[in-house]
Amino acid sequence: MLNFTFHNPTQIFFGEDQIAAIAKQIPADAKILVTYGGGSIKSNGVYEQVSTALKDHNWIEFSGIEPNPQFDTLMKAVDVVKAEGITYLLAVGGGSVVDGTKFIAAAARFEGDEPWDILAKQAQVKDAVPLSCVLTLPATGSESNIGAVVTRDTTKLAFMSPFVRPVFAVLDPKVTLSLSERQVANGVVDAFVHTMEQYLTFPVNAKVQDRFSEGLLMNLIEEGPKVLANPDDLEVRSNIMWSATMALNGLIGSGVPQDWSTHMIGHELTGQYGIDHARTLAIILPAVMKVQREQKRGKLVQYAQRVWNIVDGTEDEVIDQAIEKTEAFFKAMGMPVRLTDADLDAESIENILAQLELHGMTSLGEHGDMTPEVNRKVLEAAL
Ligand code: NZQ
Ligand code: ZN
Repeated sequence: MLNFTFHNPTQIFFGEDQIAAIAKQIPADAKILVTYGGGSIKSNGVYEQVSTALKDHNWIEFSGIEPNPQFDTLMKAVDVVKAEGITYLLAVGGGSVVDGTKFIAAAARFEGDEPWDILAKQAQVKDAVPLSCVLTLPATGSESNIGAVVTRDTTKLAFMSPFVRPVFAVLDPKVTLSLSERQVANGVVDAFVHTMEQYLTFPVNAKVQDRFSEGLLMNLIEEGPKVLANPDDLEVRSNIMWSATMALNGLIGSGVPQDWSTHMIGHELTGQYGIDHARTLAIILPAVMKVQREQKRGKLVQYAQRVWNIVDGTEDEVIDQAIEKTEAFFKAMGMPVRLTDADLDAESIENILAQLELHGMTSLGEHGDMTPEVNRKVLEAAL
């Protein structure tokens, strides 16, 4: 196992009707900006629950944070934070609203001239407005991690800072009932691939992390199809929601090598072609498994045996079957698994490679060996 420090102070309020808990958690004298997206929280009752909980607080709102939050929109919120003397941010929504609010929090206290540098130059974040969230879409893990992804035009970049980790997160599975089937499936697959990015590398004998990861993968494989068949089952929703948080709260990634190549290539597909985040991952991950088979051999066999219970056959046969099973799972969740499934052809490969190069993504993967040539092979395998 590799050395690590682990610290995740985000307080979790999990379960039905936990939104009421925010009343006591936000300081009474805070000047709050409630941030949200395109209005789903107005039609599913979440806005009302938040308003009721904050009835004795001083708060205003900022709406219109779009999926794959846009820098220009977020900078408008930064102006509001500064003009109104906001001291606390409450994000109410999915990963995009939480990520966008993390950027608002950091940009409002950024000392440099150009807040885009937080993403483009990875300028150090030295402070941020405290923030918390009411999560409405289980997927990203943003509710208790330090990462955020922001888009400017077609460039999608990430930053990390402990200053933007939510103080608390409310996870009420009931609020996920209003999600479309597509968003529910996206969430399951995003959480699955987060787990894989931290698990499917090379063995370092990290037994706790490996078995936690295998447990999360098995849960998602089991609950994913169930949530599509029985969308009103709150127990299934609960297990998916907690799996998604645990998949990217720092725990399973501690003390192990991490990959993230699928995400980096996927971000370019979203930036260039507007494909949903999770759907880009379903296209790229199987191709990474195929092209990086030798580097990942030990873990691929372990994944096949422990997650899919594939034990008969040679190592290569076992690995082939595990890749097939992974693709079949993604398909069962309604995902595209090839670029062509998303109406892209060979021409898109050159474009994506150029974008990866532009963003410095030329040594991806747990070994840093995914050069432009290797990324080309991945994209060709995904065609
Ligand atoms: O905007 P509203 O009206 O709220 O509608 C949203 C949006 O249209 C809707 N929605 C959310 N909760 C709902 C709901 N509709 C009905 N009922 C509800 N309860 O769902 C749509 C998609 O929301 P979005 O927040 O974009 O989805 P998701 O949570 O999948 O977030 C995706 C973003 O997170 C980033 C992605 O790159 C992408 O920008 N990621 C962030 C990560 C992190 N911070 O650690 C890691 C991830 O890998 C990911 O990259
Ligand atoms: Zn993701």
